[in-house]
Amino acid sequence: MASILGRDTELTWLGHATCQIRTPGGKTLLVDPWISGNPACPQAVKERPPSPDALLITHGHGDHVGDAVTLGKETGARVVGIYEMYLWLHNKKGVPGAMGMNKGGTAELFPGVRATMVHAVHSCGVLDEGQVIYAGEACGYVIRLENGFTIYHAGDTMLFGDMQLIGELWQPDLAFLPIGDLYTMDPRQAARAARMLGVKYVIPIHWGTFDALTGKPEHLQEFLRGTEIQVLAAQPGVPIR
Ligand code: NI
Ligand code: MN
Repeated sequence: MASILGRDTELTWLGHATCQIRTPGGKTLLVDPWISGNPACPQAVKERPPSPDALLITHGHGDHVGDAVTLGKETGARVVGIYEMYLWLHNKKGVPGAMGMNKGGTAELFPGVRATMVHAVHSCGVLDEGQVIYAGEACGYVIRLENGFTIYHAGDTMLFGDMQLIGELWQPDLAFLPIGDLYTMDPRQAARAARMLGVKYVIPIHWGTFDALTGKPEHLQEFLRGTEIQVLAAQPGVPIR
């Protein structure tokens, strides 16, 4: 794909909510690393999973926390989650690089790479050996890269008014927004979110994985017609630069 972002940054949607970010400084971040069981993740990625420097977890549902424990143990990557998620990852699952934070806080993951945990309106229990365990609250992340390029990953959420504030405070360039409906925003809410955030680009996620997720990028495009906002309809495993 031709250069769209032109910002020394590579973004790869790996299907569902799994998003890989290669930073200008050469770090690999993986948000919501669901790979092995993810029907939308390309086979090539399943055979050779990425080797991330950091994993960011938005909430405890299996389609988001996914392979965090396995990958975190294999790679020793930093694994970022809300405090109760950190307790589960670290104390219960023995993930060595687990680190906790909470909404409003910013962690400098690597020099010049900062992640701010922000609100999301969604639930967050983690299923562990047949039991649902409290894992804090669902969240999103604003991720600022070494060159200033700023990405918002909304996690699973409905539309909420404070997305306006996220736009004002961090001025994200690009947002990964769920559009699938049923468990998250639908395309109409996501279009409103994109306008509130003031982003230039939206990469729609959390759609098409299952038949029940009915929202489609073309619907989002339709709701954003007449705006400057570009919908980058990514294909799983195909990088956008
Ligand atoms: Ni969820
Ligand atoms: Mn989900």
